[in-house]
Parts: sequence; structure tokens; C-alpha cells
Amino acid sequence: MRIRKMKEDEIKETLTIEQKELYPELTSEQMRSWVEGKGPFAPQCFVAEKDSTIVGFIVLSPYEVRNKEVLLEISTIAVRSENQRQGIGKNLIEASLSEVKNLWSKEGFRVVGLLVETGEDEEEAIAFYEKILPSFQKRIFREIWEDEKGIVFYLASFILKT
Ligand SMILES: CC(C)(COP(=O)(O)OP(=O)(O)OC[C@H]1O[C@@H](n2cnc3c(N)ncnc32)[C@H](O)[C@@H]1OP(=O)(O)O)[C@@H](O)C(=O)NCCC(=O)NCCS
Repeated sequence: MRIRKMKEDEIKETLTIEQKELYPELTSEQMRSWVEGKGPFAPQCFVAEKDSTIVGFIVLSPYEVRNKEVLLEISTIAVRSENQRQGIGKNLIEASLSEVKNLWSKEGFRVVGLLVETGEDEEEAIAFYEKILPSFQKRIFREIWEDEKGIVFYLASFILKT
């Protein structure tokens, strides 16, 4: 399995994964806007490829930039259900983070942390993030959505690790 930058002609394939595993409402136009950006300020899309098939993908975006420091966020991450629990999600985060850190470093910026948000009822995602994110702080916000499901934020800090 290898992790590499997503190509523009892979929007349809990755959209299928996103719609099935996570977010059925996502449109190909939204997906395209993620893929088309250039340079570190644009979202960076990566795929996990296994036996010439895309089995998962991740989009990393800058959440906030200040004083030559960058806080990144995981805009989305999804792995095909038949390929879950094989280390692909972990690999996607580690490999994409390493590439994006390099990209920012070339511009003179340091990536200081990674933010990710999920639903309070997303047990798999919660188990995943709590296992793989280093030094994270967790906050839960409630009374936001009409269906009363809380939002869980994880913020992993890299400052002590660089
Ligand atoms: C969350 C998701 C991306 C994880 O990807 P994955 O490739 O299955 O994760 P990994 O195999 O790298 O898991 C790493 C570790 O996280 C934990 N973990 C992952 N999925 C888990 C689950 N369903 N239940 C419990 N622990 C889990 C385990 O500790 C696992 O290590 P192990 O398998 O050796 O025990 C994947 O389940 C997915 O695409 N889910 C649907 C979409 C989604 O929820 N995305 C996140 C939205 S915010």
C-alpha cells in the first residue's frame, strides 16, 4: 500500500468512498474544490492505493496560520469499509502530515498542531483518533445541532515533539 497525492481524475472514485463511508451529501463540485488548490494554503488531498485501487483518502487543510506557525485540520478522512482496521487510516494521517509539514517548512512555517472534529456518536472515529493522535486535548460541545448530537474536537499538539 502507498500514500500519494490525489490526482484530479480520481475525484469520482474518492467521492464514492466519502459518500458511502461518511458524508452522502458531498457533491463532486465540493470535492473538486478540495483537489484543485495549489500551494500550502490550499487543501492537500492524498489517497491510499492498494493493488491499483484507491482504498482511502484524506484532506488536510490549514485551519489557522499566524507568526509563521500553522494549525492544520483534517477536513475529511475515509477508508473503504472492507479495508478498515488494516492500518490505512493511521498511514494516511502519518504520511500526509509528513508531506504537508515539509511543504510548509519550505515556506518557512512550522506546523504546530492538528485539529479534527467528529460526532459524539461516531464511536469508530473516536476510538481511532484517541488511539493515533499524539498528545491530544479533547473538548465536546453540545446543543448545536437540531438532533442534539454533540461535536467532539481533538487538538493534537506537535510543539513538544519537534
Ligand atoms: C475512522 C477510519 C478513517 C479509521 O481508518 P482505519 O484504516 O480503519 O484505521 P486504522 O486501521 O489505521 O486504525 C488504527 C487504530 O485505531 C483504532 N481503531 C480504528 N478503527 C476502530 C474501530 N472501528 N473500533 C475501535 N478501534 C478502532 C484501533 O486501535 C486501530 O488499531 P488496531 O486495528 O491495531 O487495533 C475508518 O474507520 C473510516 O473511514 N470510517 C468511516 C468514516 C469516518 O468515520 N471518518 C472520520 C470522520 S471524522
